[in-house]
Amino acid sequence: QGTVRYEAENAVISRGVAESNHAGFSGTGFVNYDNAAGSYVQWTVNAAAAGPVSLRLRYANGTSTGRPMDVSVNGTTAAAGVAFNGTGAWTTWQTRTLTVDLNAGTNTIRATATTSGGGPNVDYIEV
Ligand code: GCU
Ligand code: CA
Repeated sequence: QGTVRYEAENAVISRGVAESNHAGFSGTGFVNYDNAAGSYVQWTVNAAAAGPVSLRLRYANGTSTGRPMDVSVNGTTAAAGVAFNGTGAWTTWQTRTLTVDLNAGTNTIRATATTSGGGPNVDYIEV
């Protein structure tokens, strides 16, 4: 199975909004998380087989304050407090790679902000 891109603006968004006012995104925009802990984006991802995969998340953080998030898979935290530090500008996008275990078939991957600043702006995940 090749890498598949899942745009954040097409995912389930809780306490955030799809926007397009900072250039450099893929697709039609990105998600601007509300500046609140607990805001999240949740993607539905298909996997051909169970096992570990690389999860790439593209983001921008134009502040100098980290915007950590918990990444959960199928309701279980897979990586807690993953750092999404400042990228220098809201138009400067970077990719972070994690390894997560997926089930065969449908999976939900959720990235939840853990601090009052909310998440970074999130462009997509690739699995
Ligand atoms: C600015 C920026 C947003 C960003 C927000 C934030 O308003 O335009 O894209 O999400 O800051 O600090 O979270
Ligand atoms: Ca925001």
